[in-house]
Amino acid sequence: MLEVKGLRKEFGQLVAVKDIHFALQPGDIFGYIGPNGAGKTTTLRMLATLLEPTSGTAIVNGIDIVRQPEDARPLIGFMPDFFGLYEGITVWEYLAFFAEAYNIPPRERKQVIENVLELTDLTVKRDTYVETLSRGMQQRLCLAKTLLHDPLLLLLDEPASGLDPRARAELKELLREIGAMGKIVIVSSHILPELSDFCNKIGIIEKGELLLWGDVDDILRQLQPARLLTIRCLDGADKLAEWLRKQPEIVNVQVVNSTVEAQFVGDDEAQAELLRRIILDGHRIATFSETTMNLEDVFLRVTKGEVA
Ligand SMILES: Nc1ncnc2c1ncn2[C@@H]1O[C@H](COP(=O)(O)OP(=O)(O)OP(=O)(O)O)[C@@H](O)[C@H]1O
Ligand SMILES: [Mg+2]
Repeated sequence: MLEVKGLRKEFGQLVAVKDIHFALQPGDIFGYIGPNGAGKTTTLRMLATLLEPTSGTAIVNGIDIVRQPEDARPLIGFMPDFFGLYEGITVWEYLAFFAEAYNIPPRERKQVIENVLELTDLTVKRDTYVETLSRGMQQRLCLAKTLLHDPLLLLLDEPASGLDPRARAELKELLREIGAMGKIVIVSSHILPELSDFCNKIGIIEKGELLLWGDVDDILRQLQPARLLTIRCLDGADKLAEWLRKQPEIVNVQVVNSTVEAQFVGDDEAQAELLRRIILDGHRIATFSETTMNLEDVFLRVTKGEVA
């Protein structure tokens, strides 16, 4: 597992990362979200042992990355946001070069390279020159390189930037597979909806402060001021709206066509009870649904300081 303990980085007067704590388990895909300059890259570079923290540390599988960086490195794979690719070599040569650099025993290299090529769907490109690959393929090649030494912890800095929607979808699928392999994946982004459907945990960082982190669903629930209920009844939408206005837990009621939209403050229990009362009162309900905020909304609220 990974335990981040009070990680801090100062650049002169600037506190780029401020005493961050979080913990992740194998299989977790953690979306590390923040606007430009929030401290995402600085955090990832510290975790990758490329940048020495001012204070604090992280423990990967019992190994302290600050005190034992040499022991930690084999457990960690880092994919930077900007990476250089060498010109004039093929995909296979590129991976063979890094396999050697990572001290993968010569007997195993061929198999290891074949495995990462297959995982990243680049097998057909093995003899292609890297500079002729598309951006999405280069991104996958860089990920293949990062996976060569089979790291437990993968640190991916904005892996989806510059990718078209299709390449993004493929990348998500790939990251899901990697998570299912029991690795810990940290993916940074400033685009929230991009992460919402495949991260099980998220953390929101702004100006070096980790404002909150945890289970995606918990965070969404915790931040939700009121749930928006959409209720479609077979007849008498106005009558239902009027009835709802009298309920203390309903904040705002609107009738849109034959659908009633109401803001509701309360938990699942209270919501179930409300539905029971609506039906008991004789309203014929066709659908009753709750709209949850998406991550973009959460992000904007949190970074506006609306959440203490
Ligand atoms: N080597 C450095 N020297 C001085 N300041 C730095 C250095 N690296 C980063 N910073 C500052 O630290 C802060 C955090 O930067 P960082 O690159 O971690 O942000 P980020 O969240 O990755 O942003 P982006 O979304 O733009 O990639 C910024 O104010 C940046 O200017
Ligand atoms: Mg960055």
